[in-house]
Amino acid sequence: MRKLLVAGNWKMNGSVDEAKALSAGLLAEISDGASYDVAVFPPFVHIPAVAAQLQNSDLIWGGQNLSAQAKGAFTSEISASMLAELGCQMVLVGHSECREYGHESNQLVAEKFKQALSVGLTPILCVGETIAQREAEQTESVVWQQIQAVIELVGMESLGQGVIAYEPVWAIGTGLTATAEQAQQVHQFIRSHLSENDDIIARRMRLLYGGSCNGSNANALFSMPDVDGGLIGGASLTVEDFMAICQQADALSNGE
Ligand code: PGA
Repeated sequence: MRKLLVAGNWKMNGSVDEAKALSAGLLAEISDGASYDVAVFPPFVHIPAVAAQLQNSDLIWGGQNLSAQAKGAFTSEISASMLAELGCQMVLVGHSECREYGHESNQLVAEKFKQALSVGLTPILCVGETIAQREAEQTESVVWQQIQAVIELVGMESLGQGVIAYEPVWAIGTGLTATAEQAQQVHQFIRSHLSENDDIIARRMRLLYGGSCNGSNANALFSMPDVDGGLIGGASLTVEDFMAICQQADALSNGE
C-alpha cells in the first residue's frame, strides 16, 4: 500500500517568525509515527528556522526549487547539496509557476530532477496542463511529455525514486478544484503509462494531486485509487487549514 503524503508548498509567503510558528503548530498536532507522511516546502531563507523546529521529528522539509547545476557561477541559484545540508529530504521540481514565470522547459526540469537525486533528495515532479490545453484535449499528451523528458534523461528506475504531483494549472490558486473523478482520470492515465515501462515502479510511485485542495475536498480526492495525497498551496498556510487536510489523510490511512 502506498502511504499518503500531504505536502505544503508555502510559496513566497510569511516571515521567519510565521514560518517558525507554522512549523511548531504542525509539530504539536502531528504525532510521530503518523499513518501518513507530511512535508513542508518553505521559502529558501526560512528553511533553517523550520529545520530547527522539525529536527528529530517525522515531519519532512524541502526546497521549492533547485538549480540544475551542481555549483559555480550561477548567481541567485540554490544547489541540491545546499538543500541537503539543511536537512531537506525532498524538493519540488517543475512547479507550474516556475515553468511559467521562470520559463523552465521540460528538459531543464529533468536536469533538476537528476540533480536532486544525485544528493539523495526526493524530487516531487510537478506536471499539469493549462486550461487551453485541457480544452484542446491535450491533457494527457502534455502531462506525458513532462514525465517522458525525465524518463529520457534519468531512466525509469530513477524516476521511480521521486514522486509525481499532478497539478492542473487552471486549478492552482483559483479555487477551481478538479473533481475527484477528473483527478483520478489523469492519475490513472499516468500510472497505466508508467506501468507500460515498469509495472512494479508504477504501482509503487506516489501520485499527488494539487490545485485548490482543502479540508472539504481532500477526502474525495484522496479516496481515489490512484491519488496518494496532495500538494497544497493556499491551504497549507495556517495550521488549521493544513490540519483539516491531514485529518482526512489520517482517517483514510486508518481505513475510516
Ligand atoms: P493551491 O496551490 O493549493 O493554492 O491551488 C497548489 C500548488 O501550487 O502546489
